Amino acid sequence: MRLAGKSAIVTGGAGGIGRATSLAFAAEGARVAVVDLQQEAAEAVAAEIRAAGGEAIAFGADVSAEADVGRVVAATVEAFGASTCRSTTPESSAAPRPSRPPSRSGTASSESMCAASS
Ligand SMILES: NC(=O)c1ccc[n+]([C@@H]2O[C@H](COP(=O)([O-])OP(=O)(O)OC[C@H]3O[C@@H](n4cnc5c(N)ncnc54)[C@H](O)[C@@H]3O)[C@@H](O)[C@H]2O)c1
Repeated sequence: MRLAGKSAIVTGGAGGIGRATSLAFAAEGARVAVVDLQQEAAEAVAAEIRAAGGEAIAFGADVSAEADVGRVVAATVEAFGASTCRSTTPESSAAPRPSRPPSRSGTASSESMCAASS
């Protein structure tokens, strides 16, 4: 469980690479905010994570819209505490950036994973 105690915002998290990322982060112990244009699909991925024993919430949001990004980040921090991971699919200039660049040190390997964009 390399991400136990961490929280992640996965944009485009209901489909394709984003869905796989949501499930992988949850399997590693992260609390996951699944964010997608398709709210019902995001809810389904969050439900799948919870059914497997993980923690997840879902948001219908457009990550190219700054207001949506602000709303999602604020609600995720409220629910989970400060987010230390992010994964963006698709890429968006409005998507939240990690507070620190990825580290290649052994102790911070999970942060490096968390900072990966696809
Ligand atoms: N699949 C591949 O092999 C591959 C390879 C290289 C790059 N990519 C790129 O990676 C990205 C994701 O690919 P995929 O195959 O997972 O795509 P996908 O279409 O299966 O999933 C993308 C998800 O992002 C959501 N989404 C789209 N725009 C959004 C927005 N503005 N806000 C919130 N959610 C949004 C969609 O609803 C969907 O659930 C794409 O940009 C793709 O071009 C994919």
